[in-house]
Amino acid sequence: MYRTNTCGELRISDVGKTVTLAGWVQRIRKMGGMSFIDLRDRYGITQLVVDDASSDAVKEALGKLGREAVIQAVGKVAERQSKNAKIDTGDIEIILSEINILNLSATPPFTIEDNSDGGEELRAKYRYLDLRRGPLKNALMLRHKLAHEVRNYLDAQGFMEIETPYLIKSTPEGARDFVVPSRMNPGEFYALPQSPQTFKQLLMVAGYDRYFQIVRCFRDEDLRADRQPEFTQIDCEMSFVEQEDVLNTFEGMMRTLFKNVVGVEIANPIPRISWYDAMDRYGSDKPDIRFGMEIHEISPLVQGHGFSVFDSVEYVGAIAVPGAAEYTRKQTDELTEWVKRPQVGAKGLVYIKLNPDGSIKSSVDKFYTPEQLQAVADAMGAKTGDLILVLCGEKRKTQTMLGVLRIEMGNRLGLRKPNEFAPLWVVDFPLLEWSEEDGRFYAMHHPFTAPKPEHMELFYSDRKEDLEKVCANAYDFVLNGTELGGGSIRIHQADVQQRMFQVLGISKEDADYKFGFIINAFKFGAPPHGGLAFGFDRVCALFGGQETIRDFIAFPKNNMGRDVMIDSPSRIDQVQMDELFLSSTAPEPKE
Ligand code: AMO
Repeated sequence: MYRTNTCGELRISDVGKTVTLAGWVQRIRKMGGMSFIDLRDRYGITQLVVDDASSDAVKEALGKLGREAVIQAVGKVAERQSKNAKIDTGDIEIILSEINILNLSATPPFTIEDNSDGGEELRAKYRYLDLRRGPLKNALMLRHKLAHEVRNYLDAQGFMEIETPYLIKSTPEGARDFVVPSRMNPGEFYALPQSPQTFKQLLMVAGYDRYFQIVRCFRDEDLRADRQPEFTQIDCEMSFVEQEDVLNTFEGMMRTLFKNVVGVEIANPIPRISWYDAMDRYGSDKPDIRFGMEIHEISPLVQGHGFSVFDSVEYVGAIAVPGAAEYTRKQTDELTEWVKRPQVGAKGLVYIKLNPDGSIKSSVDKFYTPEQLQAVADAMGAKTGDLILVLCGEKRKTQTMLGVLRIEMGNRLGLRKPNEFAPLWVVDFPLLEWSEEDGRFYAMHHPFTAPKPEHMELFYSDRKEDLEKVCANAYDFVLNGTELGGGSIRIHQADVQQRMFQVLGISKEDADYKFGFIINAFKFGAPPHGGLAFGFDRVCALFGGQETIRDFIAFPKNNMGRDVMIDSPSRIDQVQMDELFLSSTAPEPKE
């Protein structure tokens, strides 16, 4: 037996026992005639002691040890003189009688401590060393616990976990596909699933009325803190349900996760907001409702007073930033530059300061009387001491910019507390999104999402204005400004599905080529069904109080989609290329 106990297990009640531990040498400290070894494994750290009374063999072994050596240590549990309240095993230490060196270690390229001295790139290259550190270990433990709770909950609700293939045909979820060439079918490619969307719907046709899967998905899209090219979904689908049934089931799941994993009771019921209200009030389809600072349209109050910037636009909107009236000229100038950055895209920023002494000062004093500005403040419910920030332009674009500004001000004022959880359902999404650039509609969610039954007539209209009004039976689960999950009630009739492809400008031939299998399946008794998928990495990160998902994935990719540890993607040799009937026009890599 390599060990009798783990390095996180022994307590004061174990004093006097002879134990064997195995693990990694975190550090060695010498104090007078004594040496202390911190021995680490997944479970914790235990202090080992070598003193004058130790055998020569033990002293000799100690002399050979360096950081990250793997050892087996035998000794007696003793009470510690100076206790360490910071670790669970801090009351005891092990007086060593034997050290067996199982393996020595090269000097690690960075310190394996909670606050490592290693830069991100270096730690990514040695990810297996980084994973030895406490914060990453805790992140992966949280992930494991969440996955376990998800399975328990869904199993108890009668869901079956069913795997679906990874080598499939393209599923449209709005990103590019990763493709895999087929050796046995020259010139043909599989696509890796962006999600198991079509398969879970086929499982409903097959009668497996409650399906789930914790499943890897692949999307070739630009990466951000909350996006990885391969990520994991908690993917679910149910038959014979309406939107209400789906929302209740997964509200229950999230409530259970919060309670069992982080001991937090979330709002009951979880608030709901329509997509239209979310855009009007928060300028985002994933509002952070941990703080107010809502957006108000002020067009009727400020248009028609001779200020051409406001008079010439569709929409003028504003937010009131609490306590920011004291901003200096320099600070408001900096904010103006901030909103003009391409990431926000505003042309300029107007402000109204509600000074603590009751006076009002704005950057548009030439055009408005203090009374008119006060009327704006009153309409917004702004208070003395607030700074009102105003943007104008096309309605939805301006709202989106105000939404970005709102989040920025929330960050600057420290209103977005990581350990406060404010979930919300966004419902009633538009079914379709018009693209000026392409002159066609795109599905806002995906092409399998059903229009609301009461909007069926509009859905069959040929007028663009009618189609823009069609609402979908779609919903997103939002937490603290992040979209954690999304889903919809699906189309389950072949003719409605065909109409959807028609609206999206997909020809009948193209639809048959790409989706013939699902249109066909719908002809064989498809039940009404719907579902959703949560981004599991995002769930983990938010539960862990972080915005970046990378540390909650054991082996993630960097911002260029590279795994720098295994150095992938990489070129393949000519033999492999030939076997796959591939040739490459990419330039030779630089040395
Ligand atoms: P959707 O495309 O909204 O829906 O994806 C569901 C959830 O997956 C997460 N997510 C991601 N997480 C990390 N990296 C990414 N690149 C990434 N892309 C998406 C998000 C998102 O809310 N088939 C539908 C679901 C359905 O209709 O049932 C789908 O995939 O948290």
